[in-house]
Amino acid sequence: MLSKNIEKALNSQIKIEAESSQIYLAMACWAEVKGLEGVAGFMYKQSQEERDHMLKLVKYVNERGGHAQVSALSAPNVTFKSFKEMFEELYKHEIFVSESINELVHISLQEKDYSTHNFLQWYVAEQIEEEAMARTILDKINLIGDDKGGLYLFDRDILNLTVSTAATTTPE
Ligand SMILES: [Fe+2]
Ligand SMILES: [Fe+2]
Repeated sequence: MLSKNIEKALNSQIKIEAESSQIYLAMACWAEVKGLEGVAGFMYKQSQEERDHMLKLVKYVNERGGHAQVSALSAPNVTFKSFKEMFEELYKHEIFVSESINELVHISLQEKDYSTHNFLQWYVAEQIEEEAMARTILDKINLIGDDKGGLYLFDRDILNLTVSTAATTTPE
């Protein structure tokens, strides 16, 4: 059984994951109308993954005797000055999500809720990967600069981008 405190904290993470999904969906749309199909495909995939993160939390809260809340979401940015700015926003957002997960882990320990603490380890590992991926992409964008040919190749290759981190080798 979840404590009210933990239930509330998990519900606010549900909202954050839902908002993440909307943020990346808006990025996918912007990239798609700009003609960058690879970047759009990458963002659609990210958006879907964030929805999966949300659902995993929803199921957990309901299974443990809580009630997962489906709430109103804040509207995401729908336009960006540049691809660089868009990916910088993605990186900043992932750091914000990592901080929120860390806070949740902290609360689970304070409440001595070791099941939730164990459940959250998947998110801790996931955030290491997402931050590493965002940093790798930003490094590539900085290398490309204003080069149109570079952007073309980046758009073609982004869907195949893989980043291996220490978390990747952790068994699920
Ligand atoms: Fe997430
Ligand atoms: Fe994420």
